[in-house]
Amino acid sequence: MEPPEKITVGELVLKRWEPEWAELATAAVRESLPELKRFLPWAKDSYDTAATHAFIATSTEEWAKGTTFNYAIFDTGGDLVGAIGLMSRMGPGVLEIGYWTRTRYAGRGYMTAAVEKLAQVALALPGIDRVAIRHDASNAASAAVATKAGFTEVDRIDREPEAPGETGTDIIRERRG
Ligand SMILES: CC(C)(COP(=O)(O)OP(=O)(O)OC[C@H]1O[C@@H](n2cnc3c(N)ncnc32)[C@H](O)[C@@H]1OP(=O)(O)O)[C@@H](O)C(=O)NCCC(=O)NCCS
Repeated sequence: MEPPEKITVGELVLKRWEPEWAELATAAVRESLPELKRFLPWAKDSYDTAATHAFIATSTEEWAKGTTFNYAIFDTGGDLVGAIGLMSRMGPGVLEIGYWTRTRYAGRGYMTAAVEKLAQVALALPGIDRVAIRHDASNAASAAVATKAGFTEVDRIDREPEAPGETGTDIIRERRG
């Protein structure tokens, strides 16, 4: 069970993370911190290249283990526009999609297109019959992406907030194959 290392989506390409993109990714995260840190606990003011290297190293290990498949997203000019990944942490038969967009590329429909495509890829993998997105109830942009990509709400889970924009109520959405 392994998705392709490279996936083309219109004018975007999703590529399995490589260490040589660490500087570019750090710049993308740092300039997007005001938006990212509202909902992503790892997006802190202290975020640096060492954090990106650690993320890429973990991504490489997890890809090899088959537990998580993380991709960088590039545009046709080779600029990094965001990141997306498939995670098996919700258990057998389901892959969860996580994502963030570099702020200067937000609002162009990029993440909706990437999610839509990665959902199709995931649902074509053996043993996968559903894909999920989990976002905080106050994350309207993530809710819009998930809804536009065909995900419908199946559950709500209360937990401790981990990032400043969170209410602590997660909405779980799913799309079935
Ligand atoms: C969620 C996120 C990835 C969306 O990326 P994007 O590339 O801008 O997504 P798209 O352009 O495909 O679609 C964005 C949609 O959100 C809507 N949106 C954006 N900000 C919004 C807001 N504050 N309130 C309501 N809707 C909002 C846009 O209008 C658009 O929907 P529309 O096409 O129906 O108008 C981006 O906002 C982000 O990185 N947020 C911070 C990290 C994060 O929350 N990740 C997800 C964790 S679950």
